[in-house]
Amino acid sequence: MGRVDILIDHLIKSYVRRAGRSTSGQRQGWLQWDQWGLMVESGIVDPVHCFGSKAPLVIEIGFGMGESLASMAALESEKHFIGIEVHRSGVGALLNRIHTANLSNIRIYCDDAIHVLSRCISDHSLDRMQIYFPDPWPKRKHQKRRLIQPYFLDILRQKMKLGSVLHIATDWGEYAEYILQVCSNSPGWREEKNSDFGRPSTKFERRGVRLGYDVYDLYFKLFEKE
Ligand SMILES: C[S@@+](CC[C@H](N)C(=O)[O-])C[C@H]1O[C@@H](n2cnc3c(N)ncnc32)[C@H](O)[C@@H]1O
Repeated sequence: MGRVDILIDHLIKSYVRRAGRSTSGQRQGWLQWDQWGLMVESGIVDPVHCFGSKAPLVIEIGFGMGESLASMAALESEKHFIGIEVHRSGVGALLNRIHTANLSNIRIYCDDAIHVLSRCISDHSLDRMQIYFPDPWPKRKHQKRRLIQPYFLDILRQKMKLGSVLHIATDWGEYAEYILQVCSNSPGWREEKNSDFGRPSTKFERRGVRLGYDVYDLYFKLFEKE
């Protein structure tokens, strides 16, 4: 294990693994893992080999139950999607959806996104990164757990193509402000006020909307690499 790997392993996690029971559908989904699952241990992924063709590559971090990722992959069938989620039940749910809808353009990692990006994704290879409703960690003492941090944007700058877009949605106003601040202080990123990808709603989002929360969709374009 190299120095960078040791440093990565010591970073504070942006999630807490939930034990929770999974449904029979989610357990069924896991039977499909060998077909759609990718492992960090396998190292750098070659999308052409993995999907059998060349296409724009989109990654979604923290897809939850995978409902919105599956519908985006069905709508944008000309693109390749890689979903990353640590929550095993969510991965089972997405595997189930992929199988049922017969989607051939999604692959999944069940691992920490920081590990996946650092160890499996080639530099300058991503056309879009989407992160919908990352855990807001609202308490001040927990804010160091937030996924969106300066070092995270440094990793993204390395992995994404020039001109590619980072799309983040949150329903936590203070986190939206924090994200804007971190991104504007991070070299190479520019906020794009008029972008709109017509994102489907997510499970977490619908819960927030029921509670009366506002939703903030933020777009940042990578205009400079170094
Ligand atoms: C608040 S939930 C939102 C889920 C989904 N995007 C939605 O809107 O319904 C955040 C998700 O991000 C996942 N997550 C947090 N940090 C992660 C990381 N470093 N790598 C992969 N998944 C992560 C969590 O397991 C959780 O499922």
